[in-house]
Amino acid sequence: MQIFSSNDFQLGILGGGQLGRMLIAEAIRFDIQTSVMDSDPNAPAFPIANNVYLGDIKIENEVYQFGKSCQLMTIEIEAVNTIALRRLEEEGVLIFPQPHAIEILQNKLYQKQFYQNYNIPTAPFFYLENPLEIKEKKFLKPLVQKTCTAGYDGKGVFILRNEYDFQDLLIGPSIFEDFIPNALEISVIVAKNKRGEIHCYPPVEMVFHPTANLVEYLVCPARINVDLAIKADEIAKKLINSLNLIGILAVEMFITPEGEILVNESAPRPHNSGHHTLESSFTSQYEQHLRAILNLPLGSVQKKTDAVMINLLGEPGYSGKVKYLGIEEVLEIPGVMLHIYGKKETRPFRKMGHITILDSNVDEALSKANWVKNKLKVIA
Ligand SMILES: Nc1ncnc2c1ncn2[C@@H]1O[C@H](COP(=O)(O)OP(=O)(O)O)[C@@H](O)[C@H]1O
Ligand SMILES: [Mg+2]
Repeated sequence: MQIFSSNDFQLGILGGGQLGRMLIAEAIRFDIQTSVMDSDPNAPAFPIANNVYLGDIKIENEVYQFGKSCQLMTIEIEAVNTIALRRLEEEGVLIFPQPHAIEILQNKLYQKQFYQNYNIPTAPFFYLENPLEIKEKKFLKPLVQKTCTAGYDGKGVFILRNEYDFQDLLIGPSIFEDFIPNALEISVIVAKNKRGEIHCYPPVEMVFHPTANLVEYLVCPARINVDLAIKADEIAKKLINSLNLIGILAVEMFITPEGEILVNESAPRPHNSGHHTLESSFTSQYEQHLRAILNLPLGSVQKKTDAVMINLLGEPGYSGKVKYLGIEEVLEIPGVMLHIYGKKETRPFRKMGHITILDSNVDEALSKANWVKNKLKVIA
């Protein structure tokens, strides 16, 4: 059944950020009509969607009203109202990823409990409804506090290195997990469609900014041995099957110095760590997500070339109407693929765009990436 080839078919997307924008760009290649809902009139996805709705993706009635006009709905961010999605599902709207999986993955406590229940390796943790109660415990080892909801880009995460850090606890129900020292961080994106095909991209390595707790650059393929890559692939596939999830799932993992793999967190949508696939893989993560939710054959995850991706972040100290410095110089370099998301205002460390550097040699790509990072600045 070619459900998307008719003019009436509407793919609804909750969230109109850069992930929604890049998803729509791929949907256009398949001539899929899109409707997007976001509360920001300047949402990056709005200018390229067929229909736009101003609305709050967290409010039941707004999501429900929006969804009624769609045949298929998906998300670009997991913080959405799932009560509305369950109602829509009952009324025959196809929703992928399914509401049951979104509910687990939108809450860090439910995620961790799920990993434990399904024997997915993860760091030990405990839960406190009131994080201040930790002050009554003896400080035994470094811990990481994560608020159960509303965290992203390191915002809901606080590393407790000693008892003095108890002063600066985050507010709200939280999990506290063991701090994993000197871990290498990788991400594996896996896709599954309704007919049961599962494809997994090669692991990518995430290198973090020392202070902003944001990915500074991303190296693909990850510089890890084959055995670890196979193990990571198996864990990602086991997780998507355990969740019974249709769509794509980005699984962030830690590799300890002893070679143990622990799942950090996962997200049922296109992910920052998969941007490079737009140019470096036979099938991009966005196209793969569309194929999965439309129950089309999944595309090849083979890489065409090595790549390094850097996020284009708002420079600290600048807020306001955005300006980009250094674009001409950067575009002189072969293999530089520039993506600007169209956000009108910059803020310190806000994700404004990204650059993928393609090169058959990953070390070469890394040195180009460093040069680009120093040259290209986002200011106001
Ligand atoms: N248990 C941990 N041990 C060491 N570092 C951690 C741990 N948990 C999180 N971090 C660091 O904080 C970053 C952000 O945490 P994460 O849970 O992925 O939250 P976010 O939703 O902000 O991505 C991780 O990528 C990692 O660098
Ligand atoms: Mg993360």
